[in-house]
Amino acid sequence: MMLDAQNTPALPAVTRREAYQPPDWHVPELALDIDLDPAETRVRATLSVIRADAHDRPLRLDGAGQVPLSVTVDGVAINDWRLEGETLVVPLDGSAHTIETEVVIAPERNTQLMGLYASGGLLCTQCEAEGFRRITYFPDRPDVLARYTVRITADKARYPVLLANGDPIASGDLEDGRHWAEWHDPFPKPSYLFALVAGDLAANRASFTTISGREVALAIWVRERDLPKTGHALDALQAAMAWDEAVYGREYDLGMFNIVAVDDFNFGAMENKGLNIFNSRYILADPDTATDQDYDAIAGVVAHEYFHNWSGDRVTCRDWFQLSLKEGFTVYRDQSFSADQGSAAVKRIEDVRVLRAAQFPEDAGPLAHPIRPDSYLEIANFYTATIYNKGAEVIRMMATILGPEAFRAATDLYFDRFDGTAATCDDFVDCMEEAGGVDLTQFRLWYSQAGTPRVVAGLAGQPGGRAMLTLAQHVPATPGQPAKQAMVLPLKLRLFGADTGRPLTDERLVLLDSPTKEIAFDGLAERPVLSINRSFSAPVIVESARAAADLALLSAHDDDPFARYEAMQQLMLDTLVAAVTHGRADHAAAVEAVRHILEDATLEPAFIGEAVLLPSESFIGDQLAVVDPEAIFRARAALRRDLGIALEPLWRAAYADNAAGHYEYTPAAKGCRRLRNVALDYIAAADPQGGAALAFAQFEGTDNMTDRQAALTTLAGGTSDARIAALDIFYNRYSDNALVLDKWFSTQALSTRDDTAQMVEELAHHPDFTLANPNRARALVGAFAVNQRAFHHPSGRGYRFLADQVIALDKLNPQTAARLLPPLGRWRRVDEHRAQSMRAELERIVATPGLSKDVLEQATRSLD
Ligand code: PHE
Ligand code: ZN
Repeated sequence: MMLDAQNTPALPAVTRREAYQPPDWHVPELALDIDLDPAETRVRATLSVIRADAHDRPLRLDGAGQVPLSVTVDGVAINDWRLEGETLVVPLDGSAHTIETEVVIAPERNTQLMGLYASGGLLCTQCEAEGFRRITYFPDRPDVLARYTVRITADKARYPVLLANGDPIASGDLEDGRHWAEWHDPFPKPSYLFALVAGDLAANRASFTTISGREVALAIWVRERDLPKTGHALDALQAAMAWDEAVYGREYDLGMFNIVAVDDFNFGAMENKGLNIFNSRYILADPDTATDQDYDAIAGVVAHEYFHNWSGDRVTCRDWFQLSLKEGFTVYRDQSFSADQGSAAVKRIEDVRVLRAAQFPEDAGPLAHPIRPDSYLEIANFYTATIYNKGAEVIRMMATILGPEAFRAATDLYFDRFDGTAATCDDFVDCMEEAGGVDLTQFRLWYSQAGTPRVVAGLAGQPGGRAMLTLAQHVPATPGQPAKQAMVLPLKLRLFGADTGRPLTDERLVLLDSPTKEIAFDGLAERPVLSINRSFSAPVIVESARAAADLALLSAHDDDPFARYEAMQQLMLDTLVAAVTHGRADHAAAVEAVRHILEDATLEPAFIGEAVLLPSESFIGDQLAVVDPEAIFRARAALRRDLGIALEPLWRAAYADNAAGHYEYTPAAKGCRRLRNVALDYIAAADPQGGAALAFAQFEGTDNMTDRQAALTTLAGGTSDARIAALDIFYNRYSDNALVLDKWFSTQALSTRDDTAQMVEELAHHPDFTLANPNRARALVGAFAVNQRAFHHPSGRGYRFLADQVIALDKLNPQTAARLLPPLGRWRRVDEHRAQSMRAELERIVATPGLSKDVLEQATRSLD
């Protein structure tokens, strides 16, 4: 064996999309023999390798953190292998060989939660994007697809359940109290989809009959005591399987589908073939511990991971620059599924709110990147709202341009043509073009240009029933992309009469594909009011100077529920921006518009609950050249108070009318809870004492977590004595439930109180706080960093706190540390004094010795 001098961590190297080279070696078969033990797991891998074409390059296998104990070629031990950095290089003469390697790894010491690790009493894996190399030597890239056979051996008492991808083929007991199981996955897959789980687990089982009549055994695996909390996830799984057959013609393909919930997980969940592994927060729910939002998120994530079976597993990505190929498409699919399960209008409102809260700021800051990036240091940093949520919007726009039938024909073509292969974003768009009969050349700019396009829309009425609509688009400069080309923006629009509120035209889909465009309207019976970007047909920012009265008219009369919501939001934003800029504002128009919505008996409570909601402090900040967190807080609090006082009887009526006798999880009951809790918060704004008493009574009397947490949030933002009492009761009641304790931390971290920054520092020393669990870290640190006013505390203590936590967490878990960092990069958005403190903290992070490349990349880019 030769260990050369380079066997030290390499300096971070940039990976570029343009540098893609197909693999030198194919690996059609892989057999893994894994002898599990938390301290010392032995992994033997047998790879059949085939030279891809006539080249003379050696076989290169990725590794990370281990060394090879032995390497054999065609059954003979060799010693002319070498390590280049962590890559195992094996010289080979022929065109087909069998390679065996053996390594030992220590899952109990794996705090990164990548590769094989311990969580609770379980052993489990996470391989996307590059975790498989921490388990064994392999070409750990998504375009090398192998058929896996996996044999797991483990102590039977400690790990009675042994799971891997595919279907089980054999199992048995050994003399020494150990046992084994063998699994085979007939579908070739990339290494990032490998999974195994071992532990003392119980299953909630069901069966699903596919459209062609095959029986699939379904199981959700959790700790025995959590079994009663798995029903909702299992229902969602069955609904998702049926939906994918009905809407996309996609049938499940194995005899078994397993889901395992684990407590320590870097992301939401993972689509490993036939064996999805979930963060337990996206599986476990019962009315006492999970909110309606949790229930919805569980169904959405279960569906998302299931849908990956086709959009991700059967058709995977050629390289990680194509990540949005599977993620954008799959988010679009899960959004459509959820829209079909409940109120489509409310779902669209929620999705756009997430896009604006998480993706627009990313696109406007130093970390902006296109949905198909051009380079990275660490791929884990590109699991972003841009790849996922903007990626989904890009798919949605193509679906809009093609229409439902052509879009379905295009996805059929895509699945058909690329089944069993690793594809690119361009392959997907090619299918859209071919089946849709459209030219998407210019549309492809959505894949390469970063930044949120802005559209300026002006509607000028002319005499004689004519009007001219002028549209202009502008894509702002982003890092590395100073000049942009005009994009294709599908804008749904319609005109309404200013006097009657009646539609004056049909809805039209305008493709704005040039810097400017003019559209004439004739025969208008009244002065027209513009309703534009209806249903949020393009992920853009529309600037259209519309008077408060016109926005109020749309909020009352628009027939597109999203546009109606949007008009309310715009009216409130205009009011709040005026208040921040001038120190005060007239609240009358906003108050009257909200009154009108509350009095409209034709509206669903769920929709009302959304439409009367104030824009968040951060979203108000996004409208301003320089964010003044204190002024924004004051303006928002003042409007909240005025809405509360002026409409108090209506809030009280909404509160009373939407009470339920007992808990039910139905779209209607959810809507009532939503509106009732929004009303509660406005009542507390009007009458802090009485509101706190009402909140406390609800907190104590309710039978569900939605109402309890909403009451706690209202109390936690106030100054009443009931606040401390409620926090204590909540803590004591749920002290053995980690997911609910996360809520206890995040509710306090999101509080609007003056002392939140200090409270959060103290909570970081609470015995239940730990950075080792990503959910807990995010619940406190992540939540605090998006609490605009608390994070931007004038003392700079919020920045210092975040930097301290990122530095500490980086030593354990670089991926999760790096994902907490982006709020520090928003320094261009605040005053110079704050900006300096933020930069100083970023510089302190960059200067920390031994920093991971995850955090290094995010921090250095954030300083640019
Ligand atoms: N691919 C997973 C998903 O979309 C996300 C994920 C990425 C999970 C990386 C773990 C690690 O749902
Ligand atoms: Zn996904």
